[in-house]
Amino acid sequence: MVRRPRLDQSIPMLAQGYAWLPDQRRTAGRATVHTRLMLARQTLGVEGPAGARFLYDEDHVRRSGALPEPVVSTLFGHGAVHTLDGEPHRVRKAMFVQLLMGEGIGDLVDRAEAAWDDAARRWAGERRIVLMDEAARVLTRAVCDWAAVPVTDEEVPALARDLTALVDGFATGAPRHWRARRVRQRREAWLAGIVEEVRSGARTVPAGSVLGVVSAHRDSEGELLEPRVAAVEVLNVVRPTVAVSWFVGFAAHALHRWPEHRERLRSGEPAFAAAFAHEVRRFYPFAPFIGGRAPREVQWDGEMVPAGSMVLLDLFGQNHDPDLFPEPYAFRPERFLTDGGSAGTSAVRQIGPWELVPQGAGDPRSGHRCPGEDVTVALLSALAVRLACLGYTVPEQDLTISLRRIPARPASRVVLSDVRPDG
Ligand code: HEM
Repeated sequence: MVRRPRLDQSIPMLAQGYAWLPDQRRTAGRATVHTRLMLARQTLGVEGPAGARFLYDEDHVRRSGALPEPVVSTLFGHGAVHTLDGEPHRVRKAMFVQLLMGEGIGDLVDRAEAAWDDAARRWAGERRIVLMDEAARVLTRAVCDWAAVPVTDEEVPALARDLTALVDGFATGAPRHWRARRVRQRREAWLAGIVEEVRSGARTVPAGSVLGVVSAHRDSEGELLEPRVAAVEVLNVVRPTVAVSWFVGFAAHALHRWPEHRERLRSGEPAFAAAFAHEVRRFYPFAPFIGGRAPREVQWDGEMVPAGSMVLLDLFGQNHDPDLFPEPYAFRPERFLTDGGSAGTSAVRQIGPWELVPQGAGDPRSGHRCPGEDVTVALLSALAVRLACLGYTVPEQDLTISLRRIPARPASRVVLSDVRPDG
């Protein structure tokens, strides 16, 4: 039996950030901890493959009504797939799987590479660039073209800033949170209008595009989505794709700290590029935890979980669990390769569905696991190779990554100077 705090822990949680659940586990000396969040609601923190399996069973944990309002009003949007359970979730999720887990993502990667190459030529003429901001623009250009969201080149910087703001403001009471709320209102209204134009025939879109598929999607009752909810789901493709800019910033941080990986990335060996992308996703802090609410009284790890309690899976903690990833604070892409990582003969090793969890766990087709993992790994591998091929200087700046800030990022957002596209 572990101690159950009586006071709400939301403020310590926001103050400690990624270290909050791991610290509580260390104090309790076990993987399962009790805490209180969201107006002192009982909350169970779990970690590890068994804890993840427990959480992803809909019989134990449901999502609807469970996610905090500040997160839904900034990051996900009201009515989003993240907030559904049962049949409505399965039907909506199938749409994302169709869009994001097939061959179509090769075209998205090609567009991102072309947008990066265009931008890199411009960077060469500038005194210095902020890499995370530039990567967000590259990804905005690529994903909007791919998704058939109409945006001119002149509109890209403002849209990239807005999409970044949605990701940056979900876990804080600081001004960036209120900015994210305003951006969501404005961008949902804009996209809802575009969905209505597609439905009325005033705008034509390529068959199979994100905008076309979401506009025509029918829910589990056979109804079209409300235009505002369709806008939410278009944003749920475009916004997290632009969020890959965080990982591009972390990749640059890793190449700065451990430059020995640059040469192997430059060689273009696809398995190493994918392993590097996995290690960036594992090592660096991004999504802190996921959770839902117990629909009835359940038991886990000898603990009674009353109906209505929150259950959280510590994603950052699990990605640094030494039982799963020996020497978890060493940055070693080779851990994801077969053959001990020897150059030329390695392939990416099989990764279990409950093991590496930066984007959730289990089966993305049936559960809530992120359907955008293939997109993330493909984009990050491609852009990490391009980054490794780029010549640049890293001027004096604050590259520290505070674990107290959610979402974490290098403080300077990675400034580069003297950029040379040809290395
Ligand atoms: C869900 C992380 C990229 C689309 C999730 C979840 C996490 C996550 C933690 C929740 C899993 C759960 O609740 O069980 C990330 C991170 C990304 C990323 C760190 C890196 C930038 C993407 C991309 C897309 C995407 C590129 C789409 C192109 C989604 C959607 C869901 C989701 C639609 C909701 C799934 C559901 O509730 O069934 N993501 N994601 N994500 N992600 Fe991602």
